[in-house]
Amino acid sequence: MADNAFMNPQILTDTANKLVAAGKGLLAMDESTPTCNARFAKLNIPQTVESRRAYRELIVTTPGLGECISGAILCDETIRQQKKDGTLFLKVLTDACIISGIKVDAGAKDLAAHPGEKITEGLDGLRERLQEYFQMGARFAKWRAVIAIGEDIPSRSGLEANAHALARYAALCQESGLVPIVEPEVLMDGDHTLEQCRKVTEEVLRNVFIQLNCQRVLLEGMILKPNMVLPGLTCPTSATPDEVANTTVKSLWRTVPAAVPGIAFLSGGQPSELASARLNLMNVRFKGHLPWALSFSFARAIQQPALEIWRGWEINVGAAQAALLHRARCNRAARRGEYTAGMEKR
Ligand code: 13P
Repeated sequence: MADNAFMNPQILTDTANKLVAAGKGLLAMDESTPTCNARFAKLNIPQTVESRRAYRELIVTTPGLGECISGAILCDETIRQQKKDGTLFLKVLTDACIISGIKVDAGAKDLAAHPGEKITEGLDGLRERLQEYFQMGARFAKWRAVIAIGEDIPSRSGLEANAHALARYAALCQESGLVPIVEPEVLMDGDHTLEQCRKVTEEVLRNVFIQLNCQRVLLEGMILKPNMVLPGLTCPTSATPDEVANTTVKSLWRTVPAAVPGIAFLSGGQPSELASARLNLMNVRFKGHLPWALSFSFARAIQQPALEIWRGWEINVGAAQAALLHRARCNRAARRGEYTAGMEKR
């Protein structure tokens, strides 16, 4: 493993373990400005810096959030933002015992000569940006690669390019003292079957770990953020929660080294309750038999109900925070294998 001035394997390992501590998970609130604006537009919320700030203030000041959330992923705009009273969000999170993380990729762009495939950009100047975020107080980072399933895709070269970029990012993070969240997302769009998603997910993860090893990434000091294995949104055959839980864990079992401390799923657009139910079932079935923690790093599956209540109105802040905390508590229960549909009847 690479030895350098900044990297401290023990600190990275400790941070990674804190991020997947029992009963806690990650809250992704790192939507880029265009993504956040698109979600606001659907609910007629003004698409301004101030609206985005007010919404993020609502999230970070939710009382009790630290009971269920170990880390929050911010974006560049948000890490510099403050509450109305001038307190930096970073401080609000630290006071709530929530570790701050930062999304550092520059988004997925078309991969040249590969119609339908994307490559995530953002490696240029990344070392300097990571050093700045560390100075500000961030202790982990996120980079998302996007893999679509379709006719003849993903290609081998597309998979390798994305895995290589993820590994270069992860090594740079560790050099700067940040735990990398490695997120290769196989998208739900399309009519592919559960079995096709399983094959692609396994191939993606195999490539990712080959590249992580090539780039000398410390596996103990990272978190994997994969998709659950699911049939495509327009697949005529649906999958039961049992099939999803079994297939997802089987794929991870085959591909993720035991040294990785935790796996924190993205929600990928699944309905919030279903995301909790599927995570719960995996923990009910397999907890105690797996080398890594099975956790969550949800954006929409935690935030969406709160956003729909808030709708940009100050008067709705308390109710929106209650909805956010409720979803965080449901996912805490799912980590423990204690989530029930009855929890949704509030
Ligand atoms: P979703 O949970 O909404 O898929 O978002 C997770 C995420 O961080 C995407 O990069």
